[in-house]
Amino acid sequence: MKTKSHRARPHAVPSPAPDATPSPRPLRILFVSSECAPYAKCGGLGDVVASLPKALRAAGADVRTVLPLYASIDRARHALEPAGGLQVPCGNGEINGCGIWRTVAAGGIPTAFVEHDRYFARDGVYADRNGDYGDQAFRFGLLCMAAAELCRVRGWIPDVVHVHDWPTAMMPAMLDAWRKTGTSRGFERTGSVLTVHNQAYQGYTHPSVLPYIGLSAPEYYTPDTFESCGALNLLKGGWVYADAVTTVSPTYAAEIRSEPAGAGLSDFVRRRGDTFQGILNGADYDIWDPERDPRIAASYGHNSLIGKILCKRDLQHRLGLALDDAVPVLGMVTRLADQKGLGLLRDVLPWVLGEMHVQLAVLGSGDPAAEEMLRDLQHRYPGRVAAVIGYSEDLSHRIYAGSDFFLMPSLFEPCGLAQMYALRYASLPVVHAVGGLEDTVEQYNEGSGDGTGFKFYAATAQAFHDTVAWAVSTWYDRPTHMTRMRERAMTVRFDWAASAARYLDLYRRVVSWRP
Ligand code: ADP
Ligand code: GLC
Repeated sequence: MKTKSHRARPHAVPSPAPDATPSPRPLRILFVSSECAPYAKCGGLGDVVASLPKALRAAGADVRTVLPLYASIDRARHALEPAGGLQVPCGNGEINGCGIWRTVAAGGIPTAFVEHDRYFARDGVYADRNGDYGDQAFRFGLLCMAAAELCRVRGWIPDVVHVHDWPTAMMPAMLDAWRKTGTSRGFERTGSVLTVHNQAYQGYTHPSVLPYIGLSAPEYYTPDTFESCGALNLLKGGWVYADAVTTVSPTYAAEIRSEPAGAGLSDFVRRRGDTFQGILNGADYDIWDPERDPRIAASYGHNSLIGKILCKRDLQHRLGLALDDAVPVLGMVTRLADQKGLGLLRDVLPWVLGEMHVQLAVLGSGDPAAEEMLRDLQHRYPGRVAAVIGYSEDLSHRIYAGSDFFLMPSLFEPCGLAQMYALRYASLPVVHAVGGLEDTVEQYNEGSGDGTGFKFYAATAQAFHDTVAWAVSTWYDRPTHMTRMRERAMTVRFDWAASAARYLDLYRRVVSWRP
């Protein structure tokens, strides 16, 4: 059969068959971060950088992650494979030779690790026993440059680079500088998103790093850009140069628009207008779920809390607490940093232990005075207080599962994941109502028994003490309310899918600004 020739209708464009329509290329998102669980985690940042890419990929995005290869990362355990070398050009003309290792992280995320012994073959992520490393900007500057170079040589140019906190907040300015000097080499249209997980950590450093990270033009060191109080402020540069900025809860987004929560940068927050928003973190229920958590003594769900009693006994047994189902266990899993309300804990814990029939199980490390205070409490209250100073993923799960209440008297809390996990494990949070704690915990209603936790609004020892007392009296005097709250706490969900959809909307907006 003759077909109509193209010659006969020279300008006709044949309409493609419906099934031949090319589907749009998935958005390419590059995560560059100093932390990602389970490889390197100091706090919630590590959890988010592991679970948000999973949710984005499930929603159809093409996400890849680049991390430093710290000495602490066990290559065999995480199935890292060598993937060649990379010559990374720096702004000052230096070329750094790096090794690249790769693996596929949970959820199918291709993850690359930058090996560079001078910067990453150290015991800690940010610090060791002697304190913070002095060359942070060089270390994470190299990470950012290596991430870009890796994308170039692999021919995978991201639509959006998503950076996190001060360590990688310089990357949007690097993209800006490359565009202005015509050295983008493929990154001309790549947009940038900065997520601020904690406005209080800004990464102050010496400006001598600027040429190394390609920011030697004078515009990058002014009070309107990276300069703060005569030093280089890495986070501030992110606030100025990222195409869009997010933070990790709506309430914290509102709080940092003014001081003191803005930590000196509230002016820069307000200047962003609608290119800044709060998107609540999620919890990864593949990992944090008492119905299928291999780390806890017994599984349980909201229909039956018997397993939780077994988890409580297991915790009491392991930590040397008196075996007693009837006494409420107050749990904590935390970095011991000022942010977490160390002053309130120091004033209130002895007061609570002195007058209430409770046990306390704490896992944490950080501030030496706080560590000492907790050891001292354990010494003074044998069988009633267990203070484990250190970091243990395993024990953290057992504390969420084995405790009845979970204390978070944070002075500020950008989001907080610990209270989300505690809710899922039916350990009712007692929290200072700030940031993400305000957004995720529902206040107990003593009339109806509704709510998921206990909130106080003034950061005072009296308010914290009284709220712990309120929780403890609910345990002893209103057991039906306890049951009702626990059921509700276990069924509330902070799913990543909803938050990932908001990030995808944002990425699309950013892409539309760089046609
Ligand atoms: P932040 O990121 O400010 O530390 P989050 O509540 O967002 O606070 O996240 C804390 C994360 O770190 C949670 O996953 C918590 O279980 C974990 N974590 C904190 N301290 C320890 C510790 N000493 N051992 C194990 N996990 C810890
Ligand atoms: C920061 C914040 C914490 C938040 C976490 C993950 O460490 O202190 O509130 O949950 O980042 O975004």
